[in-house]
Amino acid sequence: MKLNIAVLPGDGIGPEIIEQAIKVIKTVTKKFNHELTYVYGLTGACAIDKVGNPYPDETHNLCMKSDAVLFGAIGDPKFDNNPKSPVRPEQGLLAMRKKLGLYANIRPVETFESLLHKSPLRRELIEDANFVCIRELTGGIYFGEKGRKDNGNTAFDTNIYTREEIERILVLAYQFAAKRNKKLTVVDKANVLESSRLWREVAQEIALNYPDIKTEYMFVDNAAMQIIQWPKNFDVMVTENMFGDILTDEASVITGSLGLLPSASIGIHTSVFEPIHGSYPQAAGKNIANPIATILSAAMMFEYAFDLITEGKIIRDAVVASMSEGVVTVDIAEGESYKTSEVGDWIAKWIEEN
Ligand code: IPM
Ligand code: MG
Repeated sequence: MKLNIAVLPGDGIGPEIIEQAIKVIKTVTKKFNHELTYVYGLTGACAIDKVGNPYPDETHNLCMKSDAVLFGAIGDPKFDNNPKSPVRPEQGLLAMRKKLGLYANIRPVETFESLLHKSPLRRELIEDANFVCIRELTGGIYFGEKGRKDNGNTAFDTNIYTREEIERILVLAYQFAAKRNKKLTVVDKANVLESSRLWREVAQEIALNYPDIKTEYMFVDNAAMQIIQWPKNFDVMVTENMFGDILTDEASVITGSLGLLPSASIGIHTSVFEPIHGSYPQAAGKNIANPIATILSAAMMFEYAFDLITEGKIIRDAVVASMSEGVVTVDIAEGESYKTSEVGDWIAKWIEEN
């Protein structure tokens, strides 16, 4: 199969972790006789520095031509502490989501046996926890009308959703639930927000088409509590943009390290695969960042963008093997730790040999 991918390393640790994922992707494509082409593009703070735009047209055109996009991380502290900065790296990410139509962000939450002790939650609560958060990514308060009034002293952001946007994400969520344990939790704040009442109304209609899937409705505040208290009760969770942003960060602590969680953003034009963590500028260039979330994002790329399930699985197996052997970076090591590139080398070699 021909795999044509765009690679956007971004800022901070982005280039180092992407390098490991590319190493793994090359090994897998060689082993399974796929033809791989990949082209690098600029995005984030480094794109602002070079061309004044965090998501340049050239990068957008590259993504549009690609079957999948592998993304590192963006963000630079020099922008964080300056709320008046006219252009920010995060705008590049939001522009990319909107322009590529990346309407669904898929974040699997899975625990790893060898790392259960790293989680702040007790072992018996999280052992075998395995659920997927599906976050709507191109609507809601992130993209609604925003502004200032009263000489800048009043500010507003609008949470807006259309029926079509809600239907599209719910149908995708039901498809996920159908392939998994047939339970969908729709998270909203329908006791307060009108937009949430539309979500619930649409969900109740669509649920009728999926009689063998158990639909559960949950207010977001309650969901925030239940994710931590009973993570094993969830199978697929679907929610709007901002609730999903918050709940997925919360869910990530279950696994013990933010450095482990991959994500896929399913799009109309192409799909983007990226770790859920940020650019971790303090570690940039030190060869210490955990590459696993990015390597698992590559596994998701094989599975979701190319429907190459065996290829995805061998990457997952290699990652589990590296963790059981203790070939891990300092953030999750017990004693001896390995460099970013050493973990990437080990995983690639394991794939070659297995
Ligand atoms: C995420 C991030 C982004 C978001 C930021 C960087 C704009 O937190 O992908 O979850 O809020 O969506
Ligand atoms: Mg976030």
